[in-house]
Amino acid sequence: MEPKDQTNNEEPERQTRFRNFGEGKSPHPLALEALQLVESHARALELGPAPGLRDAKAIVEQFQALDLVDAEPTVSEKIAALPPETGAKIRFYNQRFDQFVPEPGVYDFVHAYNSLPFSGPYFDEIIGKIITSLRPGGVLSMTIWTPTHAWNNASDADRFSFKSREQITLLLKDFRIHKMELDERVRTIGDKPSFLFSAYEIIAVKIDPENN
Ligand SMILES: C[S@@+](CC[C@H](N)C(=O)[O-])C[C@H]1O[C@@H](n2cnc3c(N)ncnc32)[C@H](O)[C@@H]1O
Repeated sequence: MEPKDQTNNEEPERQTRFRNFGEGKSPHPLALEALQLVESHARALELGPAPGLRDAKAIVEQFQALDLVDAEPTVSEKIAALPPETGAKIRFYNQRFDQFVPEPGVYDFVHAYNSLPFSGPYFDEIIGKIITSLRPGGVLSMTIWTPTHAWNNASDADRFSFKSREQITLLLKDFRIHKMELDERVRTIGDKPSFLFSAYEIIAVKIDPENN
C-alpha cells in the first residue's frame, strides 16, 4: 500500500498555505533543547523539515553535515539557500520516509517534528531505521501523536499513526528518555474547524553500551 503523500491532490489555495507554513518562525523549543544534549557534531538528519525549515536553520549551524528528507519538492530552493557560511555539507533526499535508507550508526542527532505521524502504516519500519542510524550516545528528538488526537479514525488509518506512552517507551527501549511531555491543545489550521491536537514531545539519548 502506498502512503498518501500529505502534499498530493490538494487544492491550490491549500498548497500555497502549506508552502508558507512555518515560514520565518523561530525554531521549535524542543529542537533547541535537544541540541543542547548533543556531544558530537559531525552529522545530523532531519525528517520532514519542509516547508518552513524552522528547525533545519538551527541544526545546520551546529553540524558538519546535515541530511534532510522530505517528499515536498518545492523546498529544494530554500534548502540551497540555508546559511552557506556554516560550511555544512547539506544533502536533500526528496523522497518519502519509507523510501529513505539511512546508513547505520552515523548520526549524532536525528530530529523529526510533526512529520513521523504522517507515515501511517510505515511508522514502525521508519522509526526502526532511524534508531539504527543513530550512533551510540546520539540524540533523537521528535513528536509523536497520541491516540486521543482528533485525526485518529479508521478512515485515515493509512495516512497517520498514533502511539501511546507505553508503545513509545517500548520503541525507545535502547534509549535514556530525557523528556516525554504531552502537548495537548485545541488547534486551528487555516479555515478548517478547530480540532484536538495531542502529541508527545520526546527527547531521548541512545544508550552507549561502552559508557554505561
Ligand atoms: C506538518 S509539516 C512539519 C514541518 C516542520 N517539521 C515543522 O514542524 O514546521 C510535515 C512535513 O513532513 C513531510 N512529510 C510528511 N509525510 C512524509 C512522508 N511520508 N515522507 C516524506 N516527507 C513527508 C511533509 O512534506 C512536510 O514537509
